[in-house]
Amino acid sequence: MTDLRAAGERAAALVAAHLAGVPDGPVWQPVPDGERAWLSGQELPADGRPLADLLADVRAHVLPHPMGNGHPRFFGWVNSPPNPAGVLVEPLAAALNPSCAGGDHAGPHLERAVVRWLAELTGFPHPPGGGLLTSGASMATIVCLAAARQRAARADGWDAREEGLAGRPPFVLYVTEEGHSCLHKAAQLLGLGARNVRAVPVDAAYRMDVAALRAMVAEDLAAGRRPFCVAGSAGTVNSGAVDPLGAIADVAAEHGMWFHVDGAYGALGVLAEDAAPHFAGLERADSLALDPHKWLGVPVGCGCALLRDPGAARAAFSLVPSYLVDENAGDLGWLAEYGPEQTRPFRALKTWATLSSLGRSGVVRLVEHTTGLARALAAMVERAPDFELLAPVVTSITAFRHTPARNGDLDGLNRAIPFAVQARGNTFLTGTRLGGRDALRACFLHPDTTERDLELLLDEIRVAAKGL
Ligand SMILES: Cc1ncc(COP(=O)(O)O)c(C=O)c1O
Repeated sequence: MTDLRAAGERAAALVAAHLAGVPDGPVWQPVPDGERAWLSGQELPADGRPLADLLADVRAHVLPHPMGNGHPRFFGWVNSPPNPAGVLVEPLAAALNPSCAGGDHAGPHLERAVVRWLAELTGFPHPPGGGLLTSGASMATIVCLAAARQRAARADGWDAREEGLAGRPPFVLYVTEEGHSCLHKAAQLLGLGARNVRAVPVDAAYRMDVAALRAMVAEDLAAGRRPFCVAGSAGTVNSGAVDPLGAIADVAAEHGMWFHVDGAYGALGVLAEDAAPHFAGLERADSLALDPHKWLGVPVGCGCALLRDPGAARAAFSLVPSYLVDENAGDLGWLAEYGPEQTRPFRALKTWATLSSLGRSGVVRLVEHTTGLARALAAMVERAPDFELLAPVVTSITAFRHTPARNGDLDGLNRAIPFAVQARGNTFLTGTRLGGRDALRACFLHPDTTERDLELLLDEIRVAAKGL
């Protein structure tokens, strides 16, 4: 124990020094070959090693090679810096080490509170037990689509869990071309078949074309297929677009389809005054996937599935063998009955700490600040003759491209820019394909990013492009 106390104090000092030093270091740099070999090639020690030695190794070989997402000039994918309060309590969650499958201990009770807080923040209806924390939005999506699948089967008079899908009309899921890959993965995993996921076209703002959705549903019905779920995006990863959620809710209601919203990244955008109107209809969804480990900055991994009818998820997953029966579980039962995980980590503590430390006003400030940065970058891009804005800004993502000369291989250039920028170490952005063109996208999640950092980003792109 004395050993743990001394090492713990050392670890706390390392954490503080690491976080304090991040803004002064390179955003990212490649792991040198020797270090890569050390990290991936080491042998299991034959005998145990002292805690102090382990910390020395972490200091020498792990902390110097971050992904970069802690840095205020990291704009890649959708990866936030860790909220310090979330970092603070991680060792305490590990020290308690509960399984939050269920039972009468702090973990499951705290989880009920933070799930309710997330529903309240996003304006999603919250019946008791209406959600659970997951590893991330990919898992939350599996939970929600499994609930949708079972509900549709039961509505048609059969049981997908009992019978499997063979011999039934194909269940069809609708997502836009901009929908996240996790929706496709979930559909495949649930046995729906990739060919039964319809790619609904998008409009010029990369939002679902609802007329096209209607036409596709009609076509599928005429062909004897079963439209069972439509998934809208509340913040796509490419451009931050929010689908017309209210119009999608109408189509879902007309056809008895489950309405799922992928708000993994963007659902908190509803808290920004300018963005809020785009989210109208979110509250009509049957389920919402959102990721506390994205915009909120809860240390990875923590996703959340919110459900209008918690019973739908329970009907899709509950399986309680005799060794898990808990007579005292109450009406809601165990959290493990609502998803595929049995042993469940104490994700609620870091989420509770992050939300408590920010408070509602802190979350709103973070969302306003980062959406403001995305708009500011868009304005700079529009003013610059050598950049082009590719999508309207709704949340905290700016999609654009570098156009130093209107002719030439702009796709090739913009495809090469992200790595060239990353390798310089001063800032970090990633690319994508948008509207058939290679694009750059910058995602803002860091509370300490400034407008000066945006100017630096554009300059870095110019310099990196010249070197290509
Ligand atoms: C819009 C969107 N949906 C879903 C996901 C999947 O979430 P996770 O990586 O937490 O599983 C992501 C991840 O980046 C995302 O940006």
